[in-house]
Amino acid sequence: MYLTKEEERIYDGESGWANQTCIRILVRLGELFNAEKLIPISSAHVSGVSYKTLGDAPIEFLRALADHAAKVKVKTTLNPQSLDSTYLRKKLPKHLQEWQLTILEQFERMGLTQSLTCTPYYLQRPKRGSHHAWAESSAVVYANSVLGAWTNREGGPSALAGAIIGKTPDYGIHRIENRQPNVTVNVEAALRKETEYGALGIFLGRTLGDKIPAIQGLHSTSNDRLKQLCAAIATTGMANMFHNNTFSHAEETEKISVDRQQIKRTIEELSPATTSQPDLVFIGCPHCSVKEMKLIAQLIEGKKVKPGTEFWVCTSCHVKQKAHDYTRKIERAGGHVLDGVCTVVSWTEELGIRTIMTNSAKTAYYAPTLNKAEPLLAPLRDCLKVAFQR
Ligand code: F3S
Repeated sequence: MYLTKEEERIYDGESGWANQTCIRILVRLGELFNAEKLIPISSAHVSGVSYKTLGDAPIEFLRALADHAAKVKVKTTLNPQSLDSTYLRKKLPKHLQEWQLTILEQFERMGLTQSLTCTPYYLQRPKRGSHHAWAESSAVVYANSVLGAWTNREGGPSALAGAIIGKTPDYGIHRIENRQPNVTVNVEAALRKETEYGALGIFLGRTLGDKIPAIQGLHSTSNDRLKQLCAAIATTGMANMFHNNTFSHAEETEKISVDRQQIKRTIEELSPATTSQPDLVFIGCPHCSVKEMKLIAQLIEGKKVKPGTEFWVCTSCHVKQKAHDYTRKIERAGGHVLDGVCTVVSWTEELGIRTIMTNSAKTAYYAPTLNKAEPLLAPLRDCLKVAFQR
């Protein structure tokens, strides 16, 4: 791989151990994927923040980087953590909270913003055609497909290394030739609900692997519905982007169709729970937009959360502040707006939650393994009917 004189000096350790370690991670990655050089990035987004999924070992690596004065060179956001500072903090054991804080401290020492969200694009929308090193798969697909920004699906360490060097290897979806669609998907069913978009994503991820689809047949689609599709397609597959309502010009391109039955069957598979009253009703995977917060607040007007049911809405601190009137309404009705938290990587099982109803196909997919809970996938309005009483 070609390195500039300055990169060579960093590689040889002239800028200290932390920078040397980070550039070596990037060069190794670049060599694996035949990248010819490193390219500058405009931002990075780091995953692997929750203590539940990270565990103890990587904390020492983060601490060592921070001790050796590692500092990010570009704006770098963080994925959600495992608990929030108000509601879950009081309910979960203290030692979990302490370890979680230790992780956040190391990131803070390195200059990462405590954004704690999987929707960093609500904080700052990346420019079309700009290059990034993002590590949250749902945000990667959204950035490439909806926002027109360019990022590979990084792992936590490579996103952090990219942030500290300010560069990423030039391979994969950073190259125009790798952004072309190589399969055409014709969606025959008219999709209306967000859960149908999520089910389409789960189905396509399984079917297409890492192929980039040109999807036709998605009409009058909102960005919030596309967000569900992005999260779900990245859950079961390795595609980092799709094209919406564009055609693949290559004649030999594979073609597949998705009909209503396939969408229906996927939703049924993601809803194995038999109870009609789940322990937790959860909205906010990926984290809610202001628009979604507004819709929830409007739909629950004059209602109260049913006794014995938990109702959680997850979003970033940034969106929670912008949507403070809606937050107040949700909390007055007995719900909890948890900022900076991902329910899937929180300790829901410690709270006795055994069934989770959600409008997110991604959460429904992961709940049995990561939350040890049976999921029910249902559109927002149905979730609210189950969670609230008059
Ligand atoms: Fe975000 Fe967690 Fe879902 S990181 S996309 S809320 S699984």
